[in-house]
Amino acid sequence: MRLLSVSSVAAASVVALFSLTQVQAYGTLGHTLTGQLGQKFLTPETARQIEAILDPSYEGLLSKAAPWPDTIKGFSRYKWASVLHYVNSPGDNPPDRCVSTYDFAGLDIVNGLFNMTATMKHFKDQPPTTTGEASILRDALRFFVHFVGDIHQPLHDSGKDRGGNDAPIKFGKTKSNLHSMWDTLIITKDIKDRFGNDPKAYLDDTLSLAGQYWKPESLNWTDCDAANFNVQNPWSNTTNNIKKLCPIEWARTMNALDCTYVWKDYSPTRDYSTDYFKQVTGPASQFLVQKLLAMSGIRMAAVLNEIYDPADASSVPEIVKRDESPKLSPRYLRLLEDALAH
Ligand SMILES: *[C@@H]1O[C@H](CO)[C@@H](O)[C@H](O)[C@H]1NC(C)=O
Ligand SMILES: *[C@@H]1O[C@H](CO)[C@@H](O)[C@H](O)[C@H]1NC(C)=O
Ligand SMILES: *[C@@H]1O[C@H](CO)[C@@H](O)[C@H](O)[C@H]1NC(C)=O
Repeated sequence: MRLLSVSSVAAASVVALFSLTQVQAYGTLGHTLTGQLGQKFLTPETARQIEAILDPSYEGLLSKAAPWPDTIKGFSRYKWASVLHYVNSPGDNPPDRCVSTYDFAGLDIVNGLFNMTATMKHFKDQPPTTTGEASILRDALRFFVHFVGDIHQPLHDSGKDRGGNDAPIKFGKTKSNLHSMWDTLIITKDIKDRFGNDPKAYLDDTLSLAGQYWKPESLNWTDCDAANFNVQNPWSNTTNNIKKLCPIEWARTMNALDCTYVWKDYSPTRDYSTDYFKQVTGPASQFLVQKLLAMSGIRMAAVLNEIYDPADASSVPEIVKRDESPKLSPRYLRLLEDALAH
C-alpha cells in the first residue's frame, strides 16, 4: 500500500471543503480562508478573549466560526439574519451604473455589521450574566466574521439578478452562475492551478502579497474615508467609537468592482475559466480575488482588536507574516516579476 503524499492530502482537503460548499449555499472555502487570514492579525489578548467566547469545539479559530451563519439559514430562530448577508441599493445596475447608498433603516449587511459589532462591544463592557446572553454574544461574533467576508465578495453588494445567482455562466465544463463562481469556483481553480491544490500555500502567498506587493495601500485598509466617518446608524452610540468599522465604505468600494470587473462584458455563453479568470486572479487586477480575501481578514481582525484589546489595537495592525516564508511556485514568481516590471 502506498502512503498518501502530502499534496494529495492537501488536495483531499480542498475536495472535502469544495463538496461541502455545494451542499450549503455559499462558500465555505472562502469563509474558512478569511477566518484563517484574520486569525494571523489578532493580538494574543484578542485571540484569548475570542477563544473564551466561542464554543470549545471551535478551538478559538475564526475559520471555524466564519462558515456557521450559512449552516443555520433554514432555522426559524435565525430568520432575522437571512437578509443580513447582502445589500441591494436602488438604482444599482452593473456594469453600467454602480450605486451603493446607506439606508439607516435597512435590513442589510451594512446594518448587520453595525449591529453585531455593537453587540460584541456591549458585552465586552458588560459581560454576559446568563446563558442566553452568552449565546447572543457567541452568535454576534460568528455573524460578524461571516459578514465581513460576505461584504468583500462584490456580488453581496449588488442586487442585480439576485447578486448574480440568477446569472448563468460557463466555467470550463462546469455550468454555474456568477455568484457561485465568485464564492468558490475561482478560488478553487486558483488554488489548484497555481498552488498545487494546497490552500496553505495560497494563504501564505496572500499574506506575503499583503506585506509586500499591495503595500503601501494595504496599510490603509483599516481606515475609513473621512466623509463616511460620521454617518449615523441605529447603533451609532456604540459603533462611532470603533474607528476601524467601515461597512458603508466597504460596501461602496466592493460594489464599484461589480462595474469594473465582476459584471463587465457579462455573457451566459462566455467561458469564464479563461481570460476573465486570469484577469481577476492575476497581476492585471493586482490579484484581486486574493486581495479581497486579505482585506476581509485584516479588517475583521482590526475591529476585533479594537474591541477586545484596545490598548494594543491603537497601532495599525502589523501587516507582516508571522511564520516562515511562503514557498512561491516558479510560475507564480514569473507572474509577480512581470507585474512589478510594468
Ligand atoms: C440585530 O441583532 C439582533 C440579535 O442580536 C436581532 O434580533 C436583530 O433582528 C438584528 N437587527 C438588525 C437590523 O440587524
Ligand atoms: C494612506 O492614507 C494616508 C492618510 O490618510 C494618505 O495620505 C495616503 O495617501 C494613503 N496611501 C495610500 C497608498 O492610499
Ligand atoms: C445616543 O446618543 C445620543 C446623542 O449623544 C443621545 O441623545 C441618545 O439618548 C443616545 N441613545 C442611547 C440609546 O443611548
